[in-house]
Amino acid sequence: MGKLRVGVIGLGMGAGHIKGFGKHPDAEVVAIGETDVERLGRVGETFGISERFNSGKELIASAADLGLDIISVATPNNLHKDLTIGALRAGCHVLCEKPMAMNASEAREMEAVAEQTGRRLMINFSFRFNEVADALKRQVEAGRLGDIYFARSIWLRRRGLPGFGGWFGRKELSGGGPLIDLGVHRIDLALWLMGYPEPTWVLGSTYDHIAGKIAAEEGKDFDVEDIAMAMIRFDNGATLEAEASWAANIKENELMKTRLMGTDGGLLYHNEDEGYRFSAELFYESEGYHYDSQLHPTGRQVPSAMEHLVDCILTDTPHTAGAHEGVIVMELLDAIYESAEKGEPVRIQ
Ligand SMILES: NC(=O)c1ccc[n+]([C@@H]2O[C@H](COP(=O)([O-])OP(=O)(O)OC[C@H]3O[C@@H](n4cnc5c(N)ncnc54)[C@H](O)[C@@H]3O)[C@@H](O)[C@H]2O)c1
Repeated sequence: MGKLRVGVIGLGMGAGHIKGFGKHPDAEVVAIGETDVERLGRVGETFGISERFNSGKELIASAADLGLDIISVATPNNLHKDLTIGALRAGCHVLCEKPMAMNASEAREMEAVAEQTGRRLMINFSFRFNEVADALKRQVEAGRLGDIYFARSIWLRRRGLPGFGGWFGRKELSGGGPLIDLGVHRIDLALWLMGYPEPTWVLGSTYDHIAGKIAAEEGKDFDVEDIAMAMIRFDNGATLEAEASWAANIKENELMKTRLMGTDGGLLYHNEDEGYRFSAELFYESEGYHYDSQLHPTGRQVPSAMEHLVDCILTDTPHTAGAHEGVIVMELLDAIYESAEKGEPVRIQ
């Protein structure tokens, strides 16, 4: 079997997908699709990709002729559903960026088409794919935490609005603000470490006291929240608190923390120096004393989401971050927004 042939649609984060697939010896990005002609040309030149299309739709229409096996969808969120379904129907496996879709009903449609076509659909929950996350997941699976009953997972920015004035801040294009953009990662991370328990109740709040004002002063479009918080209850009795902001009056510019508490131990996965380097710590009690233990990084190479998907296709094994987990996260996000709007808890079916 030759290399798996990949097409990438949307070349912001999509450029990261090209690099990720490029690291796998058995995959090759052979086509790109992008509506911004300048970006298409620049990324095509940088990575030496000659098959270039002026939209995702055009790339998908040529998928069979190009013999594509995988298509990455890395466009604004409002296009994830149609492009993913188009790519699945064209016979390709899909790596779709987070959030999976604008809402749970779109996400369910995508999952159903993946099932009908027998193609894989993976969501790029990228924070699972590093040494720290891998180490912590192994600790949880080894039972070091005992029964997990509480988690708190946050990503707060003091002032950090992506592409201010662009699609991120417009609900019709993004589906929501920091909750759907940043919170989605931290909620997935906590759920993944907790073993994806079944959510039952959600109480959420959203506010926009800072970003909307800045946008109005600068004449920019902005109609989503700038901070969101939620308490999620699960059928096993556990609780997760989640918070996400693009603007909040806090000390740190960028604060990411995912904390789990269990009957035998606790863990913390957090960023260092307000940046994108991560640390892991475990906390437990033994013989009457309390211990803190810090992960000492070994430089172990953990496959990226792109490499993982290729490996799973080639070895015919299940991949992580599948469509169903994407759907559960979207159901939670919908419920948080609904609860925030109603001002009361929402039951998840
Ligand atoms: N996993 C992560 O860590 C991570 C990080 C950043 C962004 N993202 C996600 O990636 C997606 C893209 O975000 P971004 O930051 O790259 O945004 P971006 O605006 O920088 O890039 C999106 C690109 O898609 C292009 N595009 C729009 N319509 C298109 C179409 N019909 N066909 C082809 N291309 C089209 C745009 O021209 C743009 O270049 C979003 O869903 C975002 O949430 C994920």
